[in-house]
Amino acid sequence: MPAKSQSLGERLDLVRVKLRSEVRITPKIALVLGSGLGGFADTLEESVAIPYEEIDGMPVSGVEGHAGNLVFGRVGGVPVVAMQGRVHLYEGFGPDEVVFGTRLMIRMGARSLIITNAAGGIADHLDVGDLMVLSDHINLTGRNCLVGPNDKTLGPRFPDMTEAYDGGLRDLAKVTAERLGFETKSGVYAGLLGPTYETPAEIRMLRTLGADAVGMSTVLEVIAARHAGARCLGISCVTNKAAGLSPDKLDHSEVQDTANRVQSRFTSLLRAVIGEAGAA
Ligand code: HPA
Repeated sequence: MPAKSQSLGERLDLVRVKLRSEVRITPKIALVLGSGLGGFADTLEESVAIPYEEIDGMPVSGVEGHAGNLVFGRVGGVPVVAMQGRVHLYEGFGPDEVVFGTRLMIRMGARSLIITNAAGGIADHLDVGDLMVLSDHINLTGRNCLVGPNDKTLGPRFPDMTEAYDGGLRDLAKVTAERLGFETKSGVYAGLLGPTYETPAEIRMLRTLGADAVGMSTVLEVIAARHAGARCLGISCVTNKAAGLSPDKLDHSEVQDTANRVQSRFTSLLRAVIGEAGAA
């Protein structure tokens, strides 16, 4: 157990030193793999998977379908580290726990974060099965992982969030998808606490607030990554129409089915984007 007097930065450094003794790869790009995408980590070259249980301070999820491994490897030669499985606020984890893996991957050397999720589509321009590149987000979780004393070795007290999602990476994702023969959409992601899906009235409110899609993850990880100065690319798989926008009730199995259906397109986009971003 870490001593109480240790700062977060010191705790992360201890874990980094231990992982460095086990893994040779210094990652350039960090990945957080959302619903249906965990299998991507199994396709990494020269991969080394470390179970979360073996990483001091790393929270372990109980949600089915979320394997818990930090996987180091290469994509087309580019060194990466991927979170195969993540924890959510709605499971009862605190904001610090939700972002621990993101912070660790950046502390390991990653300068860019690619974060993926499943989301409900609110805007009319979003169809089920679309990939939406996040242009911005609205943090409606009521939490922030930077509350409390600021560890200056991680980042500044008051981080700028003007360009939470990097313009260059967003353009790259769009152009890369076109090269692969499909279109991405773009939009604002609202991150909520969950675990209930929204009411139709809440979806109308979110639309008024400027949200195009809604989900229960991502915003805190992006705050932690921006705090640490990493560039972020967020991509949502629109797994369903948000509540009240279709005659159907919302169901987790629909979310999983769509995520699985889109998986191969999503995976090929990730591969190509990593190849391009890693070469830069
Ligand atoms: N709402 C919240 N989170 C989600 C949704 C949704 O409709 N779909 C997938 N994750």
